[in-house]
Amino acid sequence: MSETKTERGNWNSKLGFVLAAAGSAVGLGNIWGFPTQVADNGGASFILIYVICCLIVGLPVMIAEFAIGRHTRRNPVGAFKKLGNGWFPPLIGLWGVMCGVMILSFYLVIAGWTVGYIFEEIFYYLGIVAASEWVSDLENGIKNAFFAILFMIATVGIITGGVSNGIERATKTLMPILILVLIIMIGYVFTLQGSMEGLRMYLLPDLTAINTDLVFSALGQAFFSLSLGMGALLTYGSYLKKNQNIVESATYVTIADMGIAFLAGLLIIPAMFVAQHAGITIMDEDGNLFASTTLVFDVLPNLFKSMGGFFGLIFGSSFFILLSMAALTSTISLLEVPVSYIIDEHKIARKKAAMIVGGLVLAISLIISFNIGLIDLLATIFNNVGLPLGGLMLSLFLAWFWKTENAIEEIRSGYENLDHGYFQNVWTLFIKYICPVLIALVLITTLYNLVS
Ligand code: TRP
Repeated sequence: MSETKTERGNWNSKLGFVLAAAGSAVGLGNIWGFPTQVADNGGASFILIYVICCLIVGLPVMIAEFAIGRHTRRNPVGAFKKLGNGWFPPLIGLWGVMCGVMILSFYLVIAGWTVGYIFEEIFYYLGIVAASEWVSDLENGIKNAFFAILFMIATVGIITGGVSNGIERATKTLMPILILVLIIMIGYVFTLQGSMEGLRMYLLPDLTAINTDLVFSALGQAFFSLSLGMGALLTYGSYLKKNQNIVESATYVTIADMGIAFLAGLLIIPAMFVAQHAGITIMDEDGNLFASTTLVFDVLPNLFKSMGGFFGLIFGSSFFILLSMAALTSTISLLEVPVSYIIDEHKIARKKAAMIVGGLVLAISLIISFNIGLIDLLATIFNNVGLPLGGLMLSLFLAWFWKTENAIEEIRSGYENLDHGYFQNVWTLFIKYICPVLIALVLITTLYNLVS
């Protein structure tokens, strides 16, 4: 109806859309998750498999999300309702909305940690020991809650501004700064002793390290990092104009996401070895590199401290500002999914919708703030199972109910040369067979590992 047309926003420019979608994709998953997985899985071989997963599963599914979104101009629930009959299709969307709410609730706490560490660097430099210990205590519930609230206020503030004035404008400013800071930091780390050893581990693949576990971790990481499987990019696609080339945009977003993950690894893996050189422990007793929270909130801050003085402050705080910015463009997209659902389906104004959903998610975040052990559990359920399950349902639904011919019709708009290449055949093959089979394999293995 024309009423929903006027209510829904649009991206202002083609680049704006690509940057917003890339902003959603680039987050803690790239700057923290990817290097951690590389460290965990034997270095460069992980990168190789990761790139393949992004290209053969991530990219086709992303094109599918954009196409469904633009065709229906709805949130995930409304989109599947519009394309299919019966009670089941909307459930696919509802599953996505729920994954969004739950992922955001713990993502917010981790994002809060990154903001806390900006202050940790400052307090440390100023010699205010008590304060620097307070902000760096990951288990302090009050402190966690404080920063989660702060982060939610920023997210809701931007979402309230709407699609082009809020989301597009924020990501357009944040993304270039992020890339610039990252590159400057890499340049500096390369001048330090020890970095070359890290670089070798990062770039020279040990092909014997490749096994099924590694492949499945890589595919899971690709889903999370590319923001797939819960309708976030479907929602962003619903604000897309008909003259924009979906395939080209999806390719840019995938390349940007892979590129920034690669750069983050180029910073962090060498930085770990620089830290080792400075006498900081970077491995456990079994000789495995520290990963996850220990890496980002322990090894790296110690490295910044070892640099000493004003320089350590600048370097350390830049790193955590970088992480916070990346997290912010991601929390925006996570919140936009349930918000757009309420706007479309329950006809509630954007500002009110953002406050309601933001408040609800924050309530869950506050519980998590005091029980951070929940993060692992929630990440397992919603990242490792929820997203692939959503992606699987989305691909199967598109391929076998909506039909690839209809999707291709949608993709044709904005893509003039579609009929002159192999795109149709290749994409159809992937979305119908290859993606569902690979995703299903990952899901089955993940579930099997969980119960056994
Ligand atoms: N991709 C983001 C990251 O790498 C996280 C994220 C934002 C996300 N929106 C999403 C993940 C939607 C899955 C679905 O940190």
